Amino acid sequence: MADEFRDDEILGKAYDSKLMKRLLKYVKPYRKYVLLAILLNIFVAALPTVRPYLIKIGIDIYIANKDYHGLLIICSILLGVLILQSVVQYYLAYYTELMGQKIIFDLRVQLFTHVQKLALKYFDKTPIGRTVTRVTNDVETLNEMFSSGIVSVFSDVFVIIWIFVFMFTMSWDLSLVTLSVVPILFYATFLFRKKVRESYRGIRKHLARLNSYMQEHITGMNVVQIFGKEKDEFKKFSEINRNYRTANIKSILYYAVFFPFVEFLSALSVALIIWYGGGEVIQSSLTIGVLFAFLQYTEMFWRPVRDLSDKYNILQSAMASSERIFKLLDDQTFVNEPQQPKTLQKITGEIEFKNVWFAYNGDDYVLKNISFKINPGQTVAIVGATGAGKTSIINILSRFYDIQKGSILIDGVDIRDVNKRELRKHIATVLQDVYLFSGTIKSNISLGNKDITEKQIIEAAKTVGADKFISSLPNGYDEEVKEKGATLSVGQKQLISFARALAYKPQILILDEATSSVDTETEILIQRAIEKLLVGRTSIVIAHRLSTVQNADKIIVMHKGEVRETGTHQELLAQKGIYYRLYQLQYKDQEIVKTA
Ligand code: CTP
Ligand code: MG
Repeated sequence: MADEFRDDEILGKAYDSKLMKRLLKYVKPYRKYVLLAILLNIFVAALPTVRPYLIKIGIDIYIANKDYHGLLIICSILLGVLILQSVVQYYLAYYTELMGQKIIFDLRVQLFTHVQKLALKYFDKTPIGRTVTRVTNDVETLNEMFSSGIVSVFSDVFVIIWIFVFMFTMSWDLSLVTLSVVPILFYATFLFRKKVRESYRGIRKHLARLNSYMQEHITGMNVVQIFGKEKDEFKKFSEINRNYRTANIKSILYYAVFFPFVEFLSALSVALIIWYGGGEVIQSSLTIGVLFAFLQYTEMFWRPVRDLSDKYNILQSAMASSERIFKLLDDQTFVNEPQQPKTLQKITGEIEFKNVWFAYNGDDYVLKNISFKINPGQTVAIVGATGAGKTSIINILSRFYDIQKGSILIDGVDIRDVNKRELRKHIATVLQDVYLFSGTIKSNISLGNKDITEKQIIEAAKTVGADKFISSLPNGYDEEVKEKGATLSVGQKQLISFARALAYKPQILILDEATSSVDTETEILIQRAIEKLLVGRTSIVIAHRLSTVQNADKIIVMHKGEVRETGTHQELLAQKGIYYRLYQLQYKDQEIVKTA
């Protein structure tokens, strides 16, 4: 468990030049925006700091000299500055957000394209939640850095610089007195940042735990309810929840101490101004206007200083996020494409396995020295106990995984010499468990393929016998498919997946028969559908139904990753080997049921 979340706890340096360099590549196309944002920032930072200075002029020159007309002019200028500031701020906010959105849009596209290219091996090993977090949360953290982080750091720094400029031009000694608390502030901020960083790490870890617990729990809600595990699960949840709360409270403590302390410091500097500056006013070595301006500048000064420590956090989590994102982008778990691909335009559908060895991990072979040949148009049934390696055979035929030894040929061409897309164009696979996407029944049959017309969709559904139940749905083919087809029965989903395969018009069909039993009527429907599917194409059927097995041209019997027997139904029965025993155990009952 702890191991699983280690990745999400990366929280290291706030600035890593290597990562930054790579991140800036994404900014490059939008450097005009960056330039514009920086320029606007310098400008917008100066505007508020002009105001106290203008007020100082108003007090010292016009109010002191009772010049009402001049005072009006100063007030108009003040108003003008305010309006200008609002307008510039509008453009600034708009363009920095726009830039951020554009950058992370590109990044999401790149990430998704990359994830789509990854081999199934990656998904076997990586929790779904983690990959999703990369494309959503982590990218969002980067957005925060691009849109509010980096650019407004400039604004904060410039505000501070401008305040310094105005303060020191008005009075050196008062500036020094006012700023005497700054070292304390910096030290407090540094300490706070360090503590918050530590507690933030804890929060993240516990949040990741909470999320993944919730996700798993909600997905498996039916199992929890069936077995009455609510109480136990609630206990587990309570503990995770409690830990998360404790982690949060810890960080709240730091905030609760830090912010009042900053308030205290800023009040202290105000007191210093009143005391030292006020004394100078009494001695007439300072004007009231300057005193007033200083009071306003100190107030203005604390906000950017506090913001800067927030920015530090943003930068730090952005660095951590980018590190995780780049790690995913650098993951090279691909099924390699050939250097000089051979074409596989029209095929007859001949399949040959030559001494194939395959392991999912290391040399833990799940398929050992498999050899067989299927002639064009033939149907081959693969049978064997669970875990024998049946599904693995079809996984490697479509190159979802690559084999370690031997070769697989289609029409005499090694499948590793063909582009994956081209290879898979010829092979339609109906998997053991049907996966439906959100959308309509129609879109689930065509999978959005524009080449498949509505007519073909309905034709395919009719052929496999799915038309009857689809037409009886309130919206027919346009019926919404909800939550992976939760409102459809297992048999209905199966029929839809058959229609999907048929509409694809493949030369080779692979069928991993579902083991789940369905009612007799659907069973007959599915049986007929399978017969229709097999006509005129090379087929490999991982069969659990006796009828499918019996009608096959050849039966391959798998046992612990090896081909043990091959032959027709009659031949294999006569051998009295594994198939014979399997038949006695498994299929004979089916026959009895059918004849009864
Ligand atoms: N396996 C694995 N990694 C995967 C899938 C399978 O290590 N991603 C292993 C399984 O643990 C099993 C072996 O590979 O020991 C063969 O699995 P499979 O080909 O899926 O078995 P089937 O014969 O298809 O079993 P079933 O009838 O239950 O579908
Ligand atoms: Mg299987």
